[in-house]
Amino acid sequence: VSDGHYFEARPAVASRPRTVTLSLPDMVVELQTDRGVFSAGGIDPGTQVLLEDGPPPPSTGAVLDLGCGYGPIALALARRSPGLTVYAVDLNQRAVALTASNAAALELSNVRTAVSDGVAFEQIWSNPPVRVGKDALHQLLLAWLPRLAAGGRAYLVVQKHLGSDSLQRWLTETGWPTSRLGSRRGYRILEVQRP
Ligand SMILES: C[S@@+](CC[C@H](N)C(=O)[O-])C[C@H]1O[C@@H](n2cnc3c(N)ncnc32)[C@H](O)[C@@H]1O
Repeated sequence: VSDGHYFEARPAVASRPRTVTLSLPDMVVELQTDRGVFSAGGIDPGTQVLLEDGPPPPSTGAVLDLGCGYGPIALALARRSPGLTVYAVDLNQRAVALTASNAAALELSNVRTAVSDGVAFEQIWSNPPVRVGKDALHQLLLAWLPRLAAGGRAYLVVQKHLGSDSLQRWLTETGWPTSRLGSRRGYRILEVQRP
């Protein structure tokens, strides 16, 4: 029985599409969202901070948006670097479908919503699903961080009051040196290095 969590694989809540605006210094784009998908009412403030304060994406190679939702991170990166392949994954199939249709609407042919085993990422970007609980979040990160290429980095945005500092500590202790790249509006951007 559904209790309506946005991280369900198949949201039970009826679809009701709507449009939100992603407004950044370098772009203003309209994205379609839906019920049953994270932050459907507008761009999440953590995502906004990550996209405003994070580093420029590489111009070529591959990056991953881990937990893409309706796609604001993946789509912004794909638009900033047309020669880059941006992979976007999410447990929530409604979210993945929205990312794909938003990419098509923006004519971004460099966004992929399926990842094959051999792909290594220059960067992983994520507004990670903290609300799944600490163990599940740790498992998710440990499943994907090893897919970073040599010298690769992950950029994670986490609310300070949702445990950014303890996540930073845990990552570092687990063998993934992590530093704080920035902090604004109660959000921290963590930079994780592939050791
Ligand atoms: C905080 S939301 C961020 C969504 C989107 N990137 C944004 O910025 O609006 C985290 C996302 O992670 C997804 N998620 C939860 N568990 C996951 C898993 N095991 N694998 C992939 N994605 C997952 C959720 O469905 C949700 O869309």
